[in-house]
Order: sequence, then C-alpha cells, then structure tokens
Amino acid sequence: MTMNYLNPVNPVTTQTWTNGRHQVRCVKVIQETWDTRTFCFMAEQPVMFFFKPGQFVTLELEIDGEQVMRSYTISSSPSVPYSFSITVKRMPGGVVSNWLHDNLKVNDELAVHGPVGKFNIIDYPADKVLMLSGGVGITPLMSMVRWLFDTNATVDLQFVHSSRTPQDIIFHRELEHIFSRIPEFKMHIVCERSDELGEAWSGFRGYLSQAMLELMAPDFMDREIFCCGPTPYMNAVKRLLQENGFDMSHYHEEAFGATPQDVQEDVIENVEQAEAEAEELDVSDMLSVEFSTTGKSVRIQPGETVHTAAAKLGLHIPKACGMGICGTCRVAVTEGEVEMEHNGGITDEDVAEGYILSCCSTPKTNLVVDY
Ligand code: FES
Repeated sequence: MTMNYLNPVNPVTTQTWTNGRHQVRCVKVIQETWDTRTFCFMAEQPVMFFFKPGQFVTLELEIDGEQVMRSYTISSSPSVPYSFSITVKRMPGGVVSNWLHDNLKVNDELAVHGPVGKFNIIDYPADKVLMLSGGVGITPLMSMVRWLFDTNATVDLQFVHSSRTPQDIIFHRELEHIFSRIPEFKMHIVCERSDELGEAWSGFRGYLSQAMLELMAPDFMDREIFCCGPTPYMNAVKRLLQENGFDMSHYHEEAFGATPQDVQEDVIENVEQAEAEAEELDVSDMLSVEFSTTGKSVRIQPGETVHTAAAKLGLHIPKACGMGICGTCRVAVTEGEVEMEHNGGITDEDVAEGYILSCCSTPKTNLVVDY
C-alpha cells in the first residue's frame, strides 16, 4: 500500500527519527518572502522527527549528474514532529539553494542525513536567553522560538533579528503572533533600510550596535546567547561581546548556508609546498601518514585530518559532507590509530574492521592508510 501524504498520520504507528540516512518526500513548499521558501518533508513510514531545536540536516541531492551534500538548519520545531522543514533563501551564486528553489517540488523524494549539531537550545538550558540573527540565519532560532512557545517554557527571551528591508523579514507574521502572546518574550527587529516599494520602517534602523543592544536587552551580559547569521554579522556580534568582557562560554553560534568545510579548501596539489610548510613546524609533534596503495607519505600537524594529509599529496579521497555524516570519505587504516569525531556516517562493524571516515579523523599515532 502506498502512503497518501494527504491523509492524516496515524500517531500509533510512527517511528522516531534517529541520526542516519532517511528517505523523505517534500510535502509542502511555502513562499516566505520574495526570495525565501520553506520546504516541508515527511517520511514514507510516518516518523516523529525529534531533534534538538537548532540542529541541522544534510540533504543528498543530484545536481547536473553530480552528488551534492548540503546542510541546512531545521526551521520547524520538534513540538510539531510529523514533518520537519528547512527554510532556504536564494543566493547569488548559491548553486544548491537556487537549485532547490528552481527544482524541488511537492512529492519529490530525497535522502537526508542527520539530525546533528551542537548549536541547540536543549544542551544549553538557561532562564534568560538572547537570540541574535541576521537574514536567513533566523532559521535555527525560529526552531528554538517555536519550541519554547509550544512547550510553554518559562524563559525570559529577547529576540533580535536584523533584516535588509521590511519585506525581507522571514516569518514576520508568525513572530508577531508568538511575541504578542507571551509577556516574557520580547522581539526587536532591525532593518538596514526601507524597501524599494516604499514600505516605511519605524523600528530600529541600520546595523545592530552596542547602543541598540543596551536598549533592547540592557542585561545582555547575563544571558545565554545564540547567534546565527552571515560571517561579518557574527564577527561584529562577537567583537561587541568581547569588548564588553562577555563570558564567551555562554555564546553559541552557527554560520548559515554551506557545509562548514569546503570540499576543495584543503587541497594542496603541491607536495613541495606541503613539505615546506612542514619544515617550519616542530617536527617532534608531527605524525606521518602513509598511503600504501599509492606509496606516498606525508608528515602532518596534530589536529589535521587524514583527508587533509591525502590532499597535501594531491590524493583526492572523495568527500561530500566533510562532517562525518555521509560516509563518502571512508578508507581503511592498516596500521595506527585515529581520533574520529563522526556524526553517524560509519557503522560500528566498519569501525571494527578498521575503516575510518577520513574527513573527521585525526591520527593519534603514525598511520598507514590503504589508499
Ligand atoms: S565526507 Fe561525508 S563522512 Fe566524510
């Protein structure tokens, strides 16, 4: 029997989402603003999509015949668990985001990996919270706000969002609804400017500043802070907090958009360059990684991954997610030990047989890799 996604789900037969690879179907597409859409997903066999608000999923897509993995934070809340959603903004040059806008339709199926992520509100509970977001960086914070609202959390929340213009404010009406109902929840929106259609903006204008923050949340130094937005935005926030002597162990951030490590980033095709770099380091700390099939070896610094070691030699181990989710970069280690921080991309059986994920494994000893 095929599942009709228009029928209500049966709460008795549902499974619970666990970290791993899942096949899901797009069940709804919502135009949030002129350039931002929400895509909602459900599973064939009903699944309760439990996760920690703020976490992300990695989509497995095929674009122009190539497999592409891209991570997006979840914008929905696990308090509404029968589906989950991501909210995606069109970006100049944003291949995957633009592809989703142009191609992903209701009933399309795709695989997702996750949910994972340390940036979440469950692991850092606090009575007083400050959320700071810029642009589409609002998505993980929206998940947190929805969660706090739906679960009647007793949290004193200051929510500050920066947007280019009034028409760019994502989830604006829902935010107004939520923040009008809970006295302990306060919302402040900062717009760079009015929009081209002339919609006036009478609220905070320009860029978030210390003076604004003091007006919005005079006690910001006492709050647990969650921040997500473009890198310059987050850097400005961090600078502001550090200048005030904020205890940064209470600051949590997530960069929106692409997979953290770019696949090409660590490729150094030139062995001499790698060795020249190695010369400048204290060799006693360095570990050697030998690739037995190709007969090449290199010394690397503590903390560098096996994938980086290969790249220094011009060896291209296939890599997609770069964060231990997808399993693409799996290789066998025949000698030595690694520290592996994966996110479910490898089974215990594979580990027992000596396989590692090279993108998230750093050598603990000298290593011989079958590659
Ligand atoms: S590239 Fe995905 S697990 Fe390493």
